[in-house]
Amino acid sequence: MDKFLVPAVPKPLDGEVEIAGAKNAVLAIMPAALLADGISEISNVPHLKDMKTMSDVLRIIGCRIDGENHKLRIDTRGANHLEAPYELVKTMRASFYVLGPLVARFGRCRVSLPGGCAWGPRPIDLHLKGLEALGAKINITHGYVEATCEGRLKGGTFHFPISSVGATVNLLLAATLAEGESILQNAAIEPEIDNLVDYLISMGAKIQGRGTRTLIIQGVESLTPGKGETIADRIEAGTFLCGAVITRGRVKVTHMVPEHIMSVLNVFKEIGCDVTIGDSWVEVDARNKSLKPISVTTLPYPGFPTDLQAPLMATLASIEGNSLIQDTIYHDRFTHIAELKRLGADIQLNGNTATIIGGKSLEGADVMASDLRASAALVLSGLIAEGETTISRIYHLDRGYEDFEAKMAKLGATVSRIRPELA
Ligand code: EPZ
Repeated sequence: MDKFLVPAVPKPLDGEVEIAGAKNAVLAIMPAALLADGISEISNVPHLKDMKTMSDVLRIIGCRIDGENHKLRIDTRGANHLEAPYELVKTMRASFYVLGPLVARFGRCRVSLPGGCAWGPRPIDLHLKGLEALGAKINITHGYVEATCEGRLKGGTFHFPISSVGATVNLLLAATLAEGESILQNAAIEPEIDNLVDYLISMGAKIQGRGTRTLIIQGVESLTPGKGETIADRIEAGTFLCGAVITRGRVKVTHMVPEHIMSVLNVFKEIGCDVTIGDSWVEVDARNKSLKPISVTTLPYPGFPTDLQAPLMATLASIEGNSLIQDTIYHDRFTHIAELKRLGADIQLNGNTATIIGGKSLEGADVMASDLRASAALVLSGLIAEGETTISRIYHLDRGYEDFEAKMAKLGATVSRIRPELA
């Protein structure tokens, strides 16, 4: 398995990187193609492992997929195997998004339960309760969800007790073909949901309430193949901007949407960085700044995103003083703490709140990535650690950051990929 080698010489990042399409938007839009018979197209698709996994799931269902230059074409005319197997769903939870479209379009399907992830259980009860509210019959047997419905799904109302991106995606997809009106209350309002709404409307879906927590969907009998562009990845943008702060450098991220990370930019400003915002770019300058510790709580959008909790934790460990991070989305998303402590960070966890005693000098070490965003946090800390850092299991990072080493090189940092079998 590949490793990253982050060399010993800490130096400030300085440069500009172009942000790729949003992984979490594409993962919601690809299953939408199942709602129509024909060839759907998606542009600005990042070259990531998760896209390949979702393609594999759709191919097993019978779709043909090809693409080049960050474009995907999904031909669903051969979709007839209404199942998503455990071997794939266990590697990527978002595979579960095929449940809604398959039962809505074909009246039945069998999808493996996603199981947990590095930081604990990831329930899907809201996905299932929501689909039942639309008339689906749900049966869980041998680790699989079997969903069926007589004829079409029936429009209904579902109130999300907590904000759930994935459950909103699954229900939104299913409701587009249900008979009658569906109302999704307290729906997630992450930008990726808006991107999906726009794509579904390109297919002929009738959706009101874009950008609000109440989505009203008038079901239609059929949809036509979609065509749309993926929004920029706000989490990739935030990750590289954390790099500017932790190395006391300057980074400009382009081809992105500043308003999608305002909560993150406000944190950088409060810490004491200069933040400049353009119409499709942001620059964070932390050069020669005396930065201050801060307390941050992760929240559903537009609050501070849980996906940047680990990269921010690494960043705060470089700032003198006590900072706090509370993760209210995932109370156990802290597997990165043990590895950051191996690099010398001083972090104490109490429940779902981490106290970071910042300013300790870090020393390079061998560390192991545990999940996608934790791997990015370890690279960031490796950039400022005295001495070499090697990071194993970086297949996690390859799930969500396109051309990571090349982008780091553009910022002046050498992050080398070591293929042990070739070493
Ligand atoms: C999406 O996961 C993202 N993944 C995650 O990004 C992100 O961390 C998360 O949203 C929160 O923003 C994709 O979009 C593919 P949720 P999802 O349903 O949909 C609880 C990354 O790094 N919940 O919004 O699985 C859940 O346990 C990944 O790119 C239920 O209780 O997250 C959590 O506490 C990691 N029952 C909260 O809701 C359910 O049925 C929010 O989860 C579903 C969720």
